[in-house]
Amino acid sequence: MQGFDFILFGATGDLAMRKIFPSLYQAYIDGFLPSGRIIATSRSAFNTAQFIEELSSKSKIHIKNCIDKKWEEFTCGISYLSINLNDEKDFNALKEKIGNKSQNIVIYFSISPEFFMQACKNLALVGLNQAEVKIILEKPLGMDLRSCQTINNEIAKYYDEKQIYRIDHYLGKESIQNLLILRAFNPVFASLWNREYISYIEISVFETLGVESRGEFYDNTGALRDMVQNHILQILALVAMKIPSNLDAESIRRAKLELLKTLKPLDDENIAKNVIRAQYIKSGNFKGYLTEDNIKENSQTETFVGIKAELLDDNWKDVPFYIRTGKRMADSFAQIVIHFKSKESLKSHCNKLIICLQPDNQISLNLNVKKNGKTMEYEEKDLILNLNNASIMQPYERLILDAIEGNQASFNHKEELEVAWAWVDPILENWKERKTPLYSYPAGSLGPKESFELIKRDGYEWHSF
Ligand code: BG6
Repeated sequence: MQGFDFILFGATGDLAMRKIFPSLYQAYIDGFLPSGRIIATSRSAFNTAQFIEELSSKSKIHIKNCIDKKWEEFTCGISYLSINLNDEKDFNALKEKIGNKSQNIVIYFSISPEFFMQACKNLALVGLNQAEVKIILEKPLGMDLRSCQTINNEIAKYYDEKQIYRIDHYLGKESIQNLLILRAFNPVFASLWNREYISYIEISVFETLGVESRGEFYDNTGALRDMVQNHILQILALVAMKIPSNLDAESIRRAKLELLKTLKPLDDENIAKNVIRAQYIKSGNFKGYLTEDNIKENSQTETFVGIKAELLDDNWKDVPFYIRTGKRMADSFAQIVIHFKSKESLKSHCNKLIICLQPDNQISLNLNVKKNGKTMEYEEKDLILNLNNASIMQPYERLILDAIEGNQASFNHKEELEVAWAWVDPILENWKERKTPLYSYPAGSLGPKESFELIKRDGYEWHSF
């Protein structure tokens, strides 16, 4: 892999300390990080030694089995520069520090999107937008379609789409990358992967965590923007898209985009029927959402979303996709369940393919087999493929290395995000005008009863775990 300069905006922030530096360290330990320089920047007036001290106190705790000597070696390659993103002069200093020889510059924006445009403008002023420069943008990219388009259009004034890496860390997860392989290289599934053989598909992402210390951010965001617009729609796209004959970045991104474009638009009538929003309330030792820190009084922000989505795609006509995600749930897991149709004569004997994305990376095929003994009765058993591996690469490590290498396959094209926002926008609008109720669910439960009714109404049920 070619050398690099990695510049991090927002180097003292929470994400940098929890994920970005630990991932860079891990890449270094794994021997994947080519020789290069890391330039940490933020507004704080540190010198390099002070920054490394801060980094060691806040970041090392997030690294499993950190080896002090290796950490020291790793941090020797880090220098610090204080930058005010609004100040042109500071960008001259950055340019000077990088020099003119670098052929591979990766700039990671771990900052709030409201600063993206100014930072891009100032980087361009000092020439840090040449072809050898790549920028990584953290989510959320906008609050709705309009703000996302504004950011994309402004950034496009300075950077070509080929230089822009919009991160969705779910796309860096081993289990999610495996979806592509599972679908592309198993003809047995490929031939069954359509409306003729599949009755419905579930995608669930549950977290036991509440909003923790992110109350202010979360209260302005909510589960629909935080999880559905990006992570869950990306999973849905990977599950339902046509597998391109070439698995290169452009073909994968185009296939996801084409699929997302087929999401059936939602109007108010549809939203009233097919979209559930809810908020957790106090239960047992858990606080209710409204009494968490930094939450507005009487906040209407949803911590749970359930949706019945449909695709206007011949392959998926009449196949509902039920999606749900929530905070403060009974358990933490993410899973996709493909429910295969049964023959008319065997009405209740369906097979399920359960793709567990986390905490375990596991695939199971639910089969009916004969019960032991002198009987012709049968029972359900799972054929289980356990793909867990202690050395699984973490998403940020993989994605940072991909960006350094110039591989955009696991990053979002701007159109993917815009199409996803276009689908989500009417729901946001509907909720803003309070046209549909905000339901509640006890903290630590499986979500509101309405999410069970959503699926039961069609004669189906959520796979229980
Ligand atoms: C982030 C959301 O994008 O994903 C968080 O902002 C959420 O609210 C997190 O907790 C979930 O990621 P993971 O990898 O823990 O499933």
